[in-house]
Amino acid sequence: MGPRFALNFEAYAKKYLPKIAWDFFAAGADDCSTRDENILAYKRIRFRPRMLRDVSMMDIRTKLLGTEISFPVGIAPTGFHQLAWPDGEKSTARGTLLTYSTCTLEEISAAAPGSLRWFQLYIHRNRAVSQQLVQRAEALGFQGLVLTADLPYTGKRRDDVRNGFRLPPHMKLKNLEGAFEGDDRSEYGLPPNSLDPSVTWNDIYWLRSLTHLPIIIKGILTKEDAELAVRHGVQGIIVSNHGGRQLDGGPATIDALVEVVEAVQGRVEVYLDGGIRKGSDVLKALALGAKCVFIGRPALWGLAYKQGEEGLQEVLRILQDEFRLSMALAGKHFQNVELLLGIAAYVFQYLI
Ligand SMILES: Cc1cc2nc3c(=O)[nH]c(=O)nc-3n(C[C@H](O)[C@H](O)[C@H](O)COP(=O)(O)O)c2cc1C
Repeated sequence: MGPRFALNFEAYAKKYLPKIAWDFFAAGADDCSTRDENILAYKRIRFRPRMLRDVSMMDIRTKLLGTEISFPVGIAPTGFHQLAWPDGEKSTARGTLLTYSTCTLEEISAAAPGSLRWFQLYIHRNRAVSQQLVQRAEALGFQGLVLTADLPYTGKRRDDVRNGFRLPPHMKLKNLEGAFEGDDRSEYGLPPNSLDPSVTWNDIYWLRSLTHLPIIIKGILTKEDAELAVRHGVQGIIVSNHGGRQLDGGPATIDALVEVVEAVQGRVEVYLDGGIRKGSDVLKALALGAKCVFIGRPALWGLAYKQGEEGLQEVLRILQDEFRLSMALAGKHFQNVELLLGIAAYVFQYLI
């Protein structure tokens, strides 16, 4: 019998993936306290469920920057999918995507025509490389540009250090082929020091000058940065701590969400990733003001479980069913996000 809960996929992936790949996916920085807190924090939040509210019909569609999606869960960018399944990112061509891809942008695009796709960018010291990527993504029809802001350097992930993690030689960062001189690719498939740690808020203006795509900033955890993001003209904010893989000791994303949503006051869309493992987690994030959430590791476990897209679709289907059920049991159905936000007040009341 196959997995019935997203967590079963984790157990499967742990059992069957090569240790070095499992460790890379699971890794958090340092003591992994932020990685683990992302999950624990959901368990401390309680619903105030309401009864007798006709939950026979439920519309769980929503819109991301104007584009309708069938339910408010997307796929977070996670590098090196080929470690989980040889088809790589072609299977996950729904939700956001990345620079660190083991398939080319063109391959991903061809595999998922018509689906909502955002392109995730790290800014490289060699700005021409980043510029070309942005323009290629726009030309290929990606609908948004996600700038990951929390990785000036890579966090210290002890298992990867112990394992001497390297991309297997047959896997390449295809979008970056030919972009660098020399053969040293020891930093997660890149030459050492290729990312630009001097990036600042002004670089949002630089990106703006390169592309008409909406810019979404990923990795925001405070009201101060949320305000700066709005002031610099981004269209969306992803509250994220990179799955606890960067700064250890920062907040769980579901805890940080509240202050970001309060600061933003509806001026831009706010999304969240980190620790989403079941439908009620999705509901809690939406109730606290996220427009949509993204899953990172669970998508990789799905890919490890069943060939290509199938395993991933199973993870999404389970999450969707659980989300519907939680909505119904909490006594709300939402035709639009405002109605669901009604639940936020209930959660707050409970916490206060
Ligand atoms: C194996 C792995 C690779 C990742 N690679 C990237 C990446 O290339 N770019 C990025 O912005 N985030 C990356 N992330 C972070 C995810 O986008 C996301 O923030 C995080 O996984 C969400 O937490 P979750 O795994 O608990 O769902 C990666 C995460 C994992 C687990």
